[in-house]
Amino acid sequence: MNQKKVIVLVGASRGIGKATVEKFASNPDHTILALSRNTKGMEQFSHLSNVKCFGFDLEVSNVREQAEKIFADFDSIDILINNAGKLVNKSFTDLTPQDLTSSYQANVIGVMQTVQAALPKMLEKGGHIVNISSMGGFQGTVKFAGLTAYSTSKAAVCSFTELFYEEHKDTKVKMNCLCLGAVQTEMLEEVFPGYLAPVSAEKMGEFITDFALNSHQWINGKIIPVSLSTP
Ligand SMILES: NC(=O)c1ccc[n+]([C@@H]2O[C@H](COP(=O)([O-])OP(=O)(O)OC[C@H]3O[C@@H](n4cnc5c(N)ncnc54)[C@H](OP(=O)(O)O)[C@@H]3O)[C@@H](O)[C@H]2O)c1
Repeated sequence: MNQKKVIVLVGASRGIGKATVEKFASNPDHTILALSRNTKGMEQFSHLSNVKCFGFDLEVSNVREQAEKIFADFDSIDILINNAGKLVNKSFTDLTPQDLTSSYQANVIGVMQTVQAALPKMLEKGGHIVNISSMGGFQGTVKFAGLTAYSTSKAAVCSFTELFYEEHKDTKVKMNCLCLGAVQTEMLEEVFPGYLAPVSAEKMGEFITDFALNSHQWINGKIIPVSLSTP
């Protein structure tokens, strides 16, 4: 297997994304493109010579062009991880149009537009796109009050994975979707203060790294729960 990979990770500045970037970077053969709004937060990668950081915002109208500009310097992309997530915690009746629009822009539309930008760079050599969803977006799971904007948008990412598969199953580009359970990060602490998740961001980063590098040899178009617990 070719060990040299170009890996794009969106939502790299903290939490699971940060841990995943660090795990990929431990292999010096990989080049990692770390994308997030908070470029200051990504200065933590400055000691990693194989990590290149880019300011990137999913909540703007030109996500596709923004991504195309970043990808232009690379002949091919092997792995794209759509890890960024926006969580609005508000009761359904209080949700504003802005809450709904920004949640869907960051969690769904921005993800699709990033994929549109990356796809031409993946078609020839082949690649794996991993969407990070949530157990809240997985059918039949426990749901939590206040998470309508977040969990419905995460469910849309699951559905997108199946639809993308249908249109690209005859190409070398694979897509899978991981529905995560509780992982100890700033996001979890903000929504469920004091809850202790059984999985650290570093452990989940290890899992995502291994999954992204290997699983598409056997799995394509699948929505996979990755959960020891939900709060
Ligand atoms: N932690 C959990 O228990 C849990 C459970 C289920 C699913 N998940 C999912 O796992 C993923 C990572 O979660 P986490 O807990 O690590 O969250 P986190 O600590 O809040 O990190 C989220 C990341 O997304 C980026 N992001 C948010 N909005 C963005 C935007 N508009 N444009 C670009 N980047 C944006 C943030 O970077 P900037 O602010 O720098 O842009 C940050 O790096 C998310 O998709 C989340 O929904 C987490």
